[in-house]
Amino acid sequence: MTKMPFDSRPSSILPEEAVVVVSRCMVHPSVGSAMGDLKLTASDLPMLSCHYIQKGNLFHRFPNPPIPSSHSLLSLIRLGLSRALAYFPPLAGRLITDHKGHVYITCNDAGAELLHARADNMSVADILLPKHVPKSVNKLFALDRTVSYEGHFKPILAVQVTELSDGVFIGCSVNHAVMDGTSFWNFFNTFADVCRDGVRRVSSVPDFSRESVLISPAILKLPDGGPTVSFNQNESLKERIFSFSRESILQIKDKVNVTQYGNGSVDAVEILGKLGNDPYYYASSGKLGNGAVSKREGNFETERQISSFQSLCALLWRSITRARRLLPNKTTTLRMAVNVRHRLEPKLEMSYFGNAIQSVPVQAAAGDVLSRGLRWCAERLNEGVAAHGDGAVRRLLEDWKREPRCFPLGNPDGASITVGSSPRFPMYENDFGWGRPMAVRSGRANKFDGKISAFPGREGDGSVDLEVVLAPDTMEAVECDVEFMQYVSPC
Ligand SMILES: *[C@@H]1O[C@H](CO)[C@@H](O)[C@H](O)[C@H]1NC(C)=O
Ligand SMILES: *[C@@H]1O[C@H](CO)[C@@H](O)[C@H](O)[C@H]1NC(C)=O
Ligand SMILES: *[C@@H]1O[C@H](CO)[C@@H](O)[C@H](O)[C@H]1NC(C)=O
Ligand SMILES: *[C@@H]1O[C@H](CO)[C@@H](O)[C@H](O)[C@H]1NC(C)=O
Ligand SMILES: *[C@@H]1O[C@H](CO)[C@@H](O)[C@H](O)[C@H]1NC(C)=O
Repeated sequence: MTKMPFDSRPSSILPEEAVVVVSRCMVHPSVGSAMGDLKLTASDLPMLSCHYIQKGNLFHRFPNPPIPSSHSLLSLIRLGLSRALAYFPPLAGRLITDHKGHVYITCNDAGAELLHARADNMSVADILLPKHVPKSVNKLFALDRTVSYEGHFKPILAVQVTELSDGVFIGCSVNHAVMDGTSFWNFFNTFADVCRDGVRRVSSVPDFSRESVLISPAILKLPDGGPTVSFNQNESLKERIFSFSRESILQIKDKVNVTQYGNGSVDAVEILGKLGNDPYYYASSGKLGNGAVSKREGNFETERQISSFQSLCALLWRSITRARRLLPNKTTTLRMAVNVRHRLEPKLEMSYFGNAIQSVPVQAAAGDVLSRGLRWCAERLNEGVAAHGDGAVRRLLEDWKREPRCFPLGNPDGASITVGSSPRFPMYENDFGWGRPMAVRSGRANKFDGKISAFPGREGDGSVDLEVVLAPDTMEAVECDVEFMQYVSPC
């Protein structure tokens, strides 16, 4: 149960700001935690220099049943959060570093923060309709620009509930050294389930084991006061969500399939309706996140086929490379975040709590990306991901253990693209009691020129939304790129 009532400290945000925090409180697990310290692994530690993950859902105020009014809404969320924390004790804890330099999550029930904010002048349409994501969306998340190392003295989790004129936004900010996207959505789904029903789904029980090859005795040396992010946070950026319908995705996949190869022979690569680098079976709903794939696809062998998501990434790679007007001999890099839970042998549970991700870079000269066609680019991506089996995962881990370092996010050479998140994450399976969300939005955490986040489309039929962050002139050029824009759904 929560041990502290909401206080009504005056907010530090000026009244003319669109989003005003009206109260904040610490929420503690409904049942005291009995869990011991959890050691950060070789996949967690590098994230200490990254911002907290910030993702949330937008709800319309008047669905059926309607969202309760302020007081009941906040009571419901506070109680639900307290119960959800009982299932995820690390999220109510803090980071600690021992005298040797090993970092742990201590499940001390210090609490997660809950903020109540009002944005009386902001509507659902103000968030959804502008062509570019408005800056005001950044204000829908707590712990803005907080580096994960700060989890030593700040909450691991902060939930901000913002009441808009005609809706509600629920934004979660979670320490990235504590969990990756797979764990994040497992928590968020549990939080919603518990708010709605008081109980969670059986399938979402997190696996807190720390017995895999991810555990390492290596010590990550950090500067005094902790690390900072590895990219310039003040760069001017444009952000836009490009939606691709199921039909568009099938067309892109078809194009990849039939593009002529070399002397004209058509290489009959079988392409299934597979959507990601990340087979993720949701036992809870009895179907995969995008509803389009069979359980059999969890089989690693199917990665030999170019997926529709890889085809979509290839399209983006070409378009951004064209827009950046790079010299033909300039090396471009497309990095994809891959889930390693199913790549390791023995496999980790999909419910494994923590980070189990690696970055797979694929490189090609800008001239090749542009002249060799969509199919060629998609094949490069497919080869890169398919080669990332148990052996490659272990090699990267060994490299890190020899030379521990923070995760280098960013685009230092001006020719990089980083694709994160996944269209397979169950981002719309968050029903707090008033139906499916209208949309998914993220805060400004870990954004730089060339950062792409893939979300499932709201329809859940295999459609995909790409959240694309670019330098303003690059965005403008992508928006005029016919090869790319012909597949994008009209706003
Ligand atoms: C909302 O907008 C009205 C009219 O534009 C303005 O008078 C008022 O101060 C605004 N309120 C907030 C909280 O921004
Ligand atoms: C970025 O902006 C913030 C706030 O305006 C400022 O404190 C910081 O020094 C700036 N950093 C860089 C690298 O320019
Ligand atoms: C077409 O190219 C492939 C691969 O380069 C080659 O194996 C094949 O013999 C060529 N076919 C013809 C008809 O030239
Ligand atoms: C891919 O192309 C081959 C050969 O043209 C064709 O037989 C197959 O049906 C195509 N697959 C898809 C999914 O379009
Ligand atoms: C790339 O091409 C440019 C212009 O042709 C040339 O000046 C440069 O040296 C080349 N760079 C490399 C690494 O080959």
